[in-house]
Amino acid sequence: MRSSGPCANLADAGDILTLARSVLATASPDAKADRAREVAALWRAGRAPLPMQGVIPADHPARPDRPRLVAPADVPRRRLNSPAGRVALLHAVAHIEFNAIDLAFDMLARYALDDALADEARTAFIDDWIGVGDDEARHFRLITGRLAELGAGYGDFPAHSGLWDAAMATRDSLAGRLAVAPLVLEARGLDVTPGMINRLVSAGDTVSADCLRTIYTEEIGHVAAGARWFRHVAARAGEDPVTWFQALVRKHFSSGLKPPFNAEARLRADLPPEFYETLI
Ligand SMILES: [Fe+2]
Ligand SMILES: [Fe+2]
Repeated sequence: MRSSGPCANLADAGDILTLARSVLATASPDAKADRAREVAALWRAGRAPLPMQGVIPADHPARPDRPRLVAPADVPRRRLNSPAGRVALLHAVAHIEFNAIDLAFDMLARYALDDALADEARTAFIDDWIGVGDDEARHFRLITGRLAELGAGYGDFPAHSGLWDAAMATRDSLAGRLAVAPLVLEARGLDVTPGMINRLVSAGDTVSADCLRTIYTEEIGHVAAGARWFRHVAARAGEDPVTWFQALVRKHFSSGLKPPFNAEARLRADLPPEFYETLI
């Protein structure tokens, strides 16, 4: 008997790696977020098996026509003392969350069968990154919902592809990807988000501030997943996690890390200062 319910249209779509690639191949922002959540539900319902083989995803996921992608220096500066500035800030966050959906599903599609994972760990690895991808889709919807309340939408401002490009520098290395995507880029989010929340509260926009609070709390879990899997891969390779992390970041993220660090949130994600404090 055919199953019904919200996931019925994907019920025969195939294995989890094919489904993860289908998220990457979806260009429309809302459709990508919806598909991410549907694929997560299928996995959790046991309806998306892990295959023996997978196809490496394309280096560039499908993208909508808007936002227009420009050089980082050409993204307009945000001044939070005006409503337009707050909308621009929320748009930048929406763009990060949009990229984060693809980053989570690329992590899964590219690396779930990687030799760097122990065979018995693959299901737990998918559990974690499906959870991250589902969160990112929800974050994207949360912020675009807030943008809509403010009369704006995702695509209204130019954006840049720095996040995706930085992650793709590690396309051939699970350890490198874990070091750069969750443990450098997402950890950076933990450093800067409390300041954004404070500035939004000061500007009187407590609704937007609450959206960012939700995201901030959940992003600690994403960095924690990165730290957990980085240690797993380091142990399998017989590498010291701290020294290896530093070597990988120097190799794949040569611009260095930007202080000040949110040491408390990083520690809650099991990322102590010895990992990152010398990488400035
Ligand atoms: Fe997020
Ligand atoms: Fe995240």
